[in-house]
Amino acid sequence: MLNIAVFCSGEGTNLQAIIEAVQRGDIKARLSLVVSDNKEAPALQRAKKAAVKTIFLDPQEFPSREEFEKELIAYLQEENIGLIVLAGFMRVLSPFFVQKYPNKIFNIHPSLLPAFKGSTNAVRDALNYGVKFSGATVHFVDEKIDNGPIVLQRVVEIEEDDNEESLRQKIHHQEHIIYPLAIKLFAEGRLKVKGRKVKINPKPQ
Ligand code: GAR
Repeated sequence: MLNIAVFCSGEGTNLQAIIEAVQRGDIKARLSLVVSDNKEAPALQRAKKAAVKTIFLDPQEFPSREEFEKELIAYLQEENIGLIVLAGFMRVLSPFFVQKYPNKIFNIHPSLLPAFKGSTNAVRDALNYGVKFSGATVHFVDEKIDNGPIVLQRVVEIEEDDNEESLRQKIHHQEHIIYPLAIKLFAEGRLKVKGRKVKINPKPQ
């Protein structure tokens, strides 16, 4: 069975959606590890409540990003992780790390990529830009930020009375649908990556 690790820095509402999809049996995989670079992340409590193993790694305790990532990789290897899910992990993984897991890392970004690529507050940026539609994107991680092949996207309409909080909620709602779905498709071996394109194969009969 596929072993999954979820990396979080904050609230962990996407993690919660994933936990529930695994518990329901929608995702046929084991949630083996939740990693955080923030000791206070509510995501860690959500994982503990669901009896998922957690690890807190303080980047400041390592002399370099590579040393931090080497330690991370050791934990991932110990659990035989086959898919890494970045869910609000506000840290950029280096090419050194990404090359160890080609097409085995997912990220979710709160915009319709490539719009607001690289933004640390894509919800606010979309609102300030005045776009009429935004959304959420699940993509594979490659060596560039918010750049890898797109797996799933969902559109959200921005209405005149929307503010940052209401738009964030609308986008979160869509994220909580597409992230578990993307993981389910991966676990079923139905995602085929060719260049920038991700083909979703039908479920075998
Ligand atoms: C999510 O909206 C995710 O798209 C965003 O952080 C939020 C985490 O929420 N990620 C990024 O902005 C990455 N650049 P959560 O902790 O409640 O899942």
